[in-house]
Amino acid sequence: MTRVFVPCDAAALALGADAVAAALAPHATVIRTGSRGLFWLEPMIEVETPSGRIAYGPVTAADVPCLLAAGLLDGGAHKLRLGRPEEIPFLARQTRLTFARCGIVEPLSIADYEAHGGLAGLRRAIALGPAATIETVLASGLRGRGGAGFPTGIKWKTTADAPGARKYIVCNADEGDSGTFADRMLMEGDPFCLIEGMAIAGLAVGAAKGYVYTRSEYPHAIATFDAALAEARKAGLLGPDVLGSGQAFDIEQRVGAGAYVCGEETALLESLEGRRGQVRAKPPLPAHQGLFGCPTVINNAITLATVPVVLADGAEAYQAIGLGRSRGTMPIQLAGNIRFGGLFEAGFGVTLGELVHEIGGGTLSGRPVRAVQVGGPLGAYFPAPLFDTPFDYEAFAAKDGLIGHGGVVVFDDTVDMARQARFAMEFCAAESCGKCTPCRIGSVRGRETVEKIIAGVQVDANLELLRDLCHTMKFGSLCALGGFIPYPVMSALEHFPEDFRRPRAMAAE
Ligand SMILES: Cc1cc2nc3c(=O)[nH]c(=O)nc-3n(C[C@H](O)[C@H](O)[C@H](O)COP(=O)(O)O)c2cc1C
Ligand code: SF4
Repeated sequence: MTRVFVPCDAAALALGADAVAAALAPHATVIRTGSRGLFWLEPMIEVETPSGRIAYGPVTAADVPCLLAAGLLDGGAHKLRLGRPEEIPFLARQTRLTFARCGIVEPLSIADYEAHGGLAGLRRAIALGPAATIETVLASGLRGRGGAGFPTGIKWKTTADAPGARKYIVCNADEGDSGTFADRMLMEGDPFCLIEGMAIAGLAVGAAKGYVYTRSEYPHAIATFDAALAEARKAGLLGPDVLGSGQAFDIEQRVGAGAYVCGEETALLESLEGRRGQVRAKPPLPAHQGLFGCPTVINNAITLATVPVVLADGAEAYQAIGLGRSRGTMPIQLAGNIRFGGLFEAGFGVTLGELVHEIGGGTLSGRPVRAVQVGGPLGAYFPAPLFDTPFDYEAFAAKDGLIGHGGVVVFDDTVDMARQARFAMEFCAAESCGKCTPCRIGSVRGRETVEKIIAGVQVDANLELLRDLCHTMKFGSLCALGGFIPYPVMSALEHFPEDFRRPRAMAAE
């Protein structure tokens, strides 16, 4: 029977992919894959034809009889026919390295993984040995995709050089930033890629055990990743002798309990150790004294999942892509009020304006774009005049912003930026771990102050108080939750000052 690929990614499932698969099952061999990341076209199905795959979408179960009658199984014409997936403009413009296999392979088939280039990176790392592996990661210019953009190779070298018989690899898959879903998509669509990246890290720094800390709101990712771990053990990718290297490495998945701060690396370690997720003072760095007091590499899931391609293609190939000190590709996640939302992996350097208008197609509401928040709840709001900013760690920092985990959340002209500022403070108050005063108390006072401004109470005096409070939080907080929440607040105030000077009712709050 003809093979038809139907995604089982959470986004596609939410839009009825299981019903589509069931409707197709009597007529074709249905293969479940991850998502290609074109969410407005989900469920996007692909039919295998002699001239390659042909995509259709968005497909509902009710469309299936009509599609079959139109010759779906031969790639026949229909209003939902999209043509070759790789020729859809949203995909054609991308440089897919980390997500090269996502939406194409069967997530739990190691044979399919290998047939699409999987395991080449680990084999290369085994041949190179630990020092040259770390050197390759260093030379590639790969920086952490979790938010801080710290050079991955330096982190690995510090852990490798730290004295200690026991070391750990910890993967941060807490993915708490607004508008982000790259970790989830990868874990659901190409889980062996993350396993391979963690195994490379383990062999490179001398760690025999790894942990993945996954957010509890990701039931599909959790289940797929656990199943992938079992397959990886069966295939010898994990276990006492990783792919015949003579070195042991295994991975355990742990699930968080829904705290944003547990994405902060030291709070995550506390949580993994079974304690309340509270931030640790640094030093010591996790690379010296991390999980259970042992030297620990803690990296984001996308950072680790990018390592196999870096090893397989070589540092030079990876380093050749990008802008300035931001090398390689970034899986950018387009979300919020946007017409074409989804995952867009591209070399650093694409501008915010290109992302929002050309690639994202503007707002879903059809109204003008007013603001874009990049980098999650701690990221700045960018107004249209700053849309020429290229996606690059330094370029964003120069504009008092951050690219964080690559989340881009779009707002149209109905947004009230004073209420967004209030929300930032409210979020911080709800998620603060409570360890330091500027964040614990400051966020509550900050919310109250913005509320007074919104209500038109002593606006000038309260604006000055808000600025002062933001300064204290920025420079006095122990971690980046309290330290960065001033960025969305101050950017809202700086770029949209008019929203702070029109009193309105607070009833809805
Ligand atoms: C409040 C807060 C939340 C964070 N949440 C995440 C997260 O969900 N995922 C993540 O990878 N990094 C998160 N980080 C960044 C981590 O502390 C750390 O920098 C990252 O896991 C290191 O991995 P990388 O070098 O690969 O980016 C967060 C940081 C802070 C301050
Ligand atoms: S800034 Fe907030 S989250 Fe971070 S340590 Fe202080 S209280 Fe905890």
